[in-house]
Amino acid sequence: MINIAIDGPSGAGKSSLAKRLAADLGYIYVDTGALYRAIGLCAYERGADTSVPAEVEKILPETHLELRYEDGAQKVILNSRDVSSDIRLPHVSMLASDVSKIPRVREFLLDLQRDMAKNNNVIMDGRDIGTVILPGADVKIFLTASDEGRAKRRYKELIEKGVSTTYEEVLEDMRARDLQDRSRDIAPAVPAEDAVVLDNSDIDFEGTVEAAHRIISSKIGE
Ligand code: DC
Repeated sequence: MINIAIDGPSGAGKSSLAKRLAADLGYIYVDTGALYRAIGLCAYERGADTSVPAEVEKILPETHLELRYEDGAQKVILNSRDVSSDIRLPHVSMLASDVSKIPRVREFLLDLQRDMAKNNNVIMDGRDIGTVILPGADVKIFLTASDEGRAKRRYKELIEKGVSTTYEEVLEDMRARDLQDRSRDIAPAVPAEDAVVLDNSDIDFEGTVEAAHRIISSKIGE
């Protein structure tokens, strides 16, 4: 199976890029952030404090997560409930980042991610795909952009979804979350040694897609 890893900070456009590449290549797109979001949401709904590992760990034995695909779109099923929309609520982002610092949460999600890659050609996006989940991935891209550029994109997305927020708030939340993801002890969001860093601060979406295709072709000839 061919495995392509796309890592990077929030708002760099990983999921749009990964979805497009998956469609172009006929691979499955796996959004791993959705798994951490589902655990963050589950912990929150059960009244657990996501900054206290023991409280989050307590809910894991009763947490069943599944990924399903409908017309190429990933659905996240948490204990038989489709949480694909609820996990996108803005407050869930930081809850996901909180639970992602907990080693037992990362262990809990490891096999699910690796099994997807073992059984399918995948484009998987996240923070630690190239470093921890699929260290032998055929292609590793670390997608990044300036803080301002990323916040502008994220702000636009939220406004289009009808969420009431400000650019400043988005920028501040994004910086706090990225710092937490980048500086944690376990699986920090940093490029793998053999990743190609793609900075799209000054290129539009189509330019980013082209650059990614060039990187992929140079590694696997597709
Ligand atoms: O990609 P996202 O914004 O949906 O991810 C939400 C959080 O989940 C992110 O702040 C950090 C965590 N995460 C992670 O630690 N490792 C991954 N592979 C994907 C996400």
